[in-house]
Amino acid sequence: MTQLTNLGVLVSGRGSNLQAVIDACESGRIPAKVSIVISNNPQAYGLERAKKHKIPTAIIDPNQVKDKNTYELEIVKNLKQHAVQLVCLAGYMRIVGPVLLEHFTGKMINIHPALLPSFPGLHGQKQALDHAVKVSGATVHFVDEGCDTGPIILQAAVPVMDNDTEESLSARILEQEHKLYPQAIKLIAEGKIRVEGRKVRVI
Ligand code: GAR
Repeated sequence: MTQLTNLGVLVSGRGSNLQAVIDACESGRIPAKVSIVISNNPQAYGLERAKKHKIPTAIIDPNQVKDKNTYELEIVKNLKQHAVQLVCLAGYMRIVGPVLLEHFTGKMINIHPALLPSFPGLHGQKQALDHAVKVSGATVHFVDEGCDTGPIILQAAVPVMDNDTEESLSARILEQEHKLYPQAIKLIAEGKIRVEGRKVRVI
């Protein structure tokens, strides 16, 4: 039997991408297991989703600790306690700092609701609408010190319709996100990803 890759998922809110990853793990579609879900937000619905699947959770509130380094060290401690091999940011709305990055360089991925390098940061869908692009989408990428700048693993294109609102475009992109994130995690868990500088090759 294939060894399962231990995932640590960081969420700040709804957690629908977390759910897609949990479902893919539980159905055996990807050789991985969500070992812990961590949130900066005590109200995040993602925490409830984890509990429903008996997955350990941790709330680390940045307002309750001295500084960002302390906050991230606490995250690292929890991830290590659960032997996490790959950190997946899933609607984690904080910039990753040097402490977290140093411990998980090349082992941390993010999903973003736009075709990077277009429209990084917050509200990728609204940025795409404001720019009036015809195609947007979703990107899974490795996390580096920049904001949504790391090597791109997979992307999915989504058409933008003339009558789209932020809600309708977000929903169409989200549908793709739920397929793309498990697919990227599967490739990594199966050892099929090689990173050469900016280039991510599927072998
Ligand atoms: C998703 O659309 C994700 O791509 C986006 O937040 C949403 C979280 O939804 N992430 C970012 O914008 C990160 N810059 P979810 O909590 O239901 O997975």
